[in-house]
Amino acid sequence: MSRLWGRKQSSDDRRVVAPPGAPASAAVKSSAPNAIEVAYWLVLWRAPTDADIREALPALHSAERLHHLYLHLFGSAEFRRLADILWDELDPARARRAVEPALATMGSDAEFIEFAYRAILGRPSDPEGRATYLAILAAGHWRSYLLQALIRSPEFKTRFAMLCPQAGFLPRDIQLCELANPAKWNNPEWMDLLASLVVVPPDKPSMHRKGYEFTQLLFGLTRLNCIRDDVHVLSVGAGHEAVLYWLANRVARVIATDMYGAVWQETGAREGDESVLVDAARFAPFPYRQDRLVFLKMDGRFLAFPDATFDVVYSLSSIEHFDGFRGARLAMDEMARVMKPGGVLAVATEYCLSGPPHHEAFQPDQVFALLQHPSLTLVQPIDNRVWDRYEYVPVDLRRNPYETPNMVVSDLGSVFTSVMAFFRKTH
Ligand SMILES: C[S@@+](CC[C@H](N)C(=O)[O-])C[C@H]1O[C@@H](n2cnc3c(N)ncnc32)[C@H](O)[C@@H]1O
Repeated sequence: MSRLWGRKQSSDDRRVVAPPGAPASAAVKSSAPNAIEVAYWLVLWRAPTDADIREALPALHSAERLHHLYLHLFGSAEFRRLADILWDELDPARARRAVEPALATMGSDAEFIEFAYRAILGRPSDPEGRATYLAILAAGHWRSYLLQALIRSPEFKTRFAMLCPQAGFLPRDIQLCELANPAKWNNPEWMDLLASLVVVPPDKPSMHRKGYEFTQLLFGLTRLNCIRDDVHVLSVGAGHEAVLYWLANRVARVIATDMYGAVWQETGAREGDESVLVDAARFAPFPYRQDRLVFLKMDGRFLAFPDATFDVVYSLSSIEHFDGFRGARLAMDEMARVMKPGGVLAVATEYCLSGPPHHEAFQPDQVFALLQHPSLTLVQPIDNRVWDRYEYVPVDLRRNPYETPNMVVSDLGSVFTSVMAFFRKTH
């Protein structure tokens, strides 16, 4: 505690002002503007403006309305910014210098302690706390540090979480079944997952469908409670994608399958590089549980596993390369077959937004036909209107495929993006 407690300058100005919650025991004068001023100084560490006072005047009519003024102040973004400083910094010198002269006017030390407890903890001081803080203030420490100590206390944090459960929370996009969606870059939970993959830059200008698919997979599996140590996962057309290694650190077992060594040995980002079969660690973006991840050469249209083997099956950016719609259909059937009932399937493939048919991207009706399967149910309808809400310039894959943001692309006149779908196996 000693590090927290700074020394105050002497102040003889002990003008008494109205307390928060007006404790009957505190011998204070209560005047109309003072109750509002006290509230602002104790909670926001600043004087109210004229407009603040005008707006807060009803607070003077009853204890209940005064309580609402405090709720209003605690619920403000301004308090959250101050609280972040007070939680992070032991010595917030600038804020302290600004508030201290006003706090010094709030009655005797005993009265001030009472005001602070009422305002911050919403209760009278207890004998132990009162004695501690009386001694600390008598030793010449700043009053603002008493406020800070209360704001940093677990008791206040619990109270704050109860009064302001939205604190630190902004509405966020949580759709699972959708076209690649830039709104996800505004979701902190989603962005934490993206950052945890290491391989994807976490800034908006670097926005890329690859990062979207990887992160959306992990986001969906997390939300669907599939990230558990008893879960067995199969990836189809896996290449050496970073999510394999991420999952290996968190689930029972991951089996990566791909036609390694075929055309993708040299094309694209060499996703089909067969050397992963002999040296998987070379492709790992971070240390991983090597005993949990197995790479197998296997055609996604003919999976060499018994029925109902896996809890989770997924395939990212691959089935469109399995020899057209028929190959993709075969892979969907196979993936559904090897899943346990109740298991989760996640599939990302190419979705045409406009232009002529493309040999490696599906038209919307083909996508919806592919996603119809007798034993699979989408966990929610697919939002295929995402790109109706954004202005965009497609990245021309022939001219510069590396340009970012890389969320909508064009090739040979076709404009397409990724579609992501999560299913449960019903039977
Ligand atoms: C665009 S890459 C995607 C790789 C990985 N999912 C990723 O997102 O990084 C397509 C992958 O599909 C694989 N592939 C192509 N035809 C396949 C088939 N019939 N069965 C399994 N994998 C196949 C390729 O070898 C390649 O690794």
